[in-house]
Amino acid sequence: MPDQTRPAPETDAPDGQTTQYWQSLDNAHHLHPFTVHHALRAQNPRVISHGKGVYLWDTDGHRILDGMAGLWCTQLGYGVDALADVAAEAMKTLSYYNAFFQTTTPNTAKLSAMIAERTPADLNQIFFASSGSEANDSAIKFIWYYWNLKGQPQKKAIISRMRSYHGTTIAAASLTGLDSMHDIFDLPLSQMHHIEPAPHYYEYGKSGESEAAFSERCAQALEDKILELGPDNVAAFIGEPVMGAGGLMIPPTGYWQKIEAICHKYNVLLWSDEVICGFGRTGHWFGCETYGFTPDIITMAKGLSSGYVPISAVALNEEIAATIANAETEMAHGFTYSGHPVACAVAIRNIELIEEMDLIGPRGVETSAYFQAEVAKLIDHPLVGQTRGVGMLAAIELVQDKATQENYQPEGRAGEICRDNCFQTGVIMRAVGDAMFLSPPLIISKSEIDEMIALIRESLDLTYAQL
Ligand SMILES: Cc1ncc(COP(=O)(O)O)c(C=O)c1O
Repeated sequence: MPDQTRPAPETDAPDGQTTQYWQSLDNAHHLHPFTVHHALRAQNPRVISHGKGVYLWDTDGHRILDGMAGLWCTQLGYGVDALADVAAEAMKTLSYYNAFFQTTTPNTAKLSAMIAERTPADLNQIFFASSGSEANDSAIKFIWYYWNLKGQPQKKAIISRMRSYHGTTIAAASLTGLDSMHDIFDLPLSQMHHIEPAPHYYEYGKSGESEAAFSERCAQALEDKILELGPDNVAAFIGEPVMGAGGLMIPPTGYWQKIEAICHKYNVLLWSDEVICGFGRTGHWFGCETYGFTPDIITMAKGLSSGYVPISAVALNEEIAATIANAETEMAHGFTYSGHPVACAVAIRNIELIEEMDLIGPRGVETSAYFQAEVAKLIDHPLVGQTRGVGMLAAIELVQDKATQENYQPEGRAGEICRDNCFQTGVIMRAVGDAMFLSPPLIISKSEIDEMIALIRESLDLTYAQL
């Protein structure tokens, strides 16, 4: 039954064939990200036509509660008129101008100041790009340029972690710690190094090992890698405060303090990739605040504009930024859309709304506590081996045996079945292996959380029956 809350947009599809029409065009011409195309074309893509609040609709009129905020990005949910209005106004006023020609725009200058006010410590200097990958590529160049200017041009190695996700451009994919993203593209670049284990006690903690001892082992892997490469060759360490796409891994107690101390000991820059964790996702503006460490560099995207327009940013501390700013050479880096005035206008209003709606203050704390408590109750389901989460992020592990935490074989099948059942019942969860992820819009209400959990239970029941 089509939902009438928000009318579907008009289309030029032949009468009564809307879905098939879009699918046929898509199958004929559209290459999707991260997709096995022959399989998608055999089953057809679902066509999402519109959205409002935490809900999406497809062209067959199904209403779906988006438990993933798009791709971890729609902090304010869908269809916020205030963001659309500000974009329209900005386009009419100044549809485009660049920051190359010793020029800026009011929106670009204002947004840089607003971000600087909200980043911790002295991460006060902001560079703009359009995606998380571009921000990460830019940060790599700033780091290398910084060490060149400091007279340490050999400091080029960047250490990352297995299972991390930092994007898909050549350099960002090289930082990413997923073999599937390296092997088919002859990556990673030689300057990028990966350590293990990933800081995920549930998966990598040894039997009898305390969480504190596990933290120590993870941090020791960083120190060992720095010593192996030689501290004079190591430029930076990059980490997501909570690892996202590679497995939603909540860091073990004390992990980030140990990592920070090692970076300081060896003069290695500490870089927090906040593309997912920024803008309230873990309960603060940035995930590094949730975990009590101070990076030298922060990269951000997604929640910066709630996904309404593509915009990302790099925040540098004063030491790095001043070194670059005082150089004789031109900083020969930037994008046509760096500091795009329309994107900046939307990001400004998005930040204002996050504040006006108190999504990081007491209201946000109350919503996330309720969300975490309700997710935790799913542990009574026969298929659920563990739940975990922080802020508005959560994961549900599907297991065959709750006592041993053994997975169904082949691994990943249970997750895939569950994800498909979720679509059928009307809720979106993302499956990575047999872990189901949730990252709902921050504006979700308690009654919508109740509805989401009920739909998840229904999907788990169906999955259990099928397995
Ligand atoms: C932590 C992290 N860094 C970087 C990226 C890349 O962002 P984009 O897809 O906008 O290039 C992502 C995307 O999910 C991410 O999760």
